[in-house]
Amino acid sequence: MNFKVSDSCVQCNSCINVCPTKSLSLVDGLVTFNSSRCMKCGQCFSICPTASISMFDCDPSTNISLDPLVKAIQMRRSVRSYKSEPLSNEKITEMLQIIRFAPSARNARNTRYIVINRPKLLELIPVIGEILLNIYPHMKAMIQAGGDAIFRGAPHLIVAVESVPQPTDDGVIALAEFELLAQQQGYGTFWCGFFKHAQAAPQVRELVGQNQQDKVTAALGFGIADIQYERPAAREKVAVTFI
Ligand SMILES: Cc1cc2nc3c(=O)[nH]c(=O)nc-3n(C[C@H](O)[C@H](O)[C@H](O)COP(=O)(O)O)c2cc1C
Ligand code: SF4
Ligand code: SF4
Repeated sequence: MNFKVSDSCVQCNSCINVCPTKSLSLVDGLVTFNSSRCMKCGQCFSICPTASISMFDCDPSTNISLDPLVKAIQMRRSVRSYKSEPLSNEKITEMLQIIRFAPSARNARNTRYIVINRPKLLELIPVIGEILLNIYPHMKAMIQAGGDAIFRGAPHLIVAVESVPQPTDDGVIALAEFELLAQQQGYGTFWCGFFKHAQAAPQVRELVGQNQQDKVTAALGFGIADIQYERPAAREKVAVTFI
């Protein structure tokens, strides 16, 4: 990958702190890149206050769209830094009621939502960490370092659950709408695949339902973002084929 840091870098550390894979470090006053760890998310490019990072030949001076919906899509990021202050139940409920307009397979609308708040999330961190170590051994250092590599300090986790023999994609679609709505209102979100992986754990089943058919279809960390991005992430073009 073509990753460069220009002379305009002011060594503010923002790119280093935001990198979810610890691929960047400051060595002798220069931002140094470890390509073997990088997952190409483009968050470093997105956050740099001096537009010093270029990657995939993306130009950091590219304008943000004036179209509000296009802008919301461009500027949505996985937020992994949150203020501890929670949102009210009323506010979260109001936002979840907006996504009832999302599409639904056969219009079945079987998805229900569970909002897990920070105290319960703290209890779940060691439980899920243990499960993840078996699935992703390379995460050992990250999990054992303590902190919150799973819920990223988010005060809430919104979990979509279906209790039918064949759960649908409804929860994913609805929470994707929730994510855009939330970020457009200035909140932060991120998809918590780790929680979904751990859904068979007894402590998780206790929260989402005891029935074998109770299935977590999506989970989204949510709260007041404690981070601000300057521009869309660097992204390679998607492949498109017309047949
Ligand atoms: C289904 C799914 C599961 C994900 N799970 C996690 C997760 O458990 N933890 C995390 O920090 N990010 C998770 N992510 C976020 C991705 O890492 C992120 O979307 C990707 O790196 C691109 O960055 P962006 O969302 O800022 O554009 C997940 C994303 C998706 C779509
Ligand atoms: S693209 Fe993402 S993973 Fe790679 S160095 Fe930048 S922030 Fe880290
Ligand atoms: S965010 Fe930009 S200015 Fe700050 S250390 Fe990284 S490259 Fe340098």
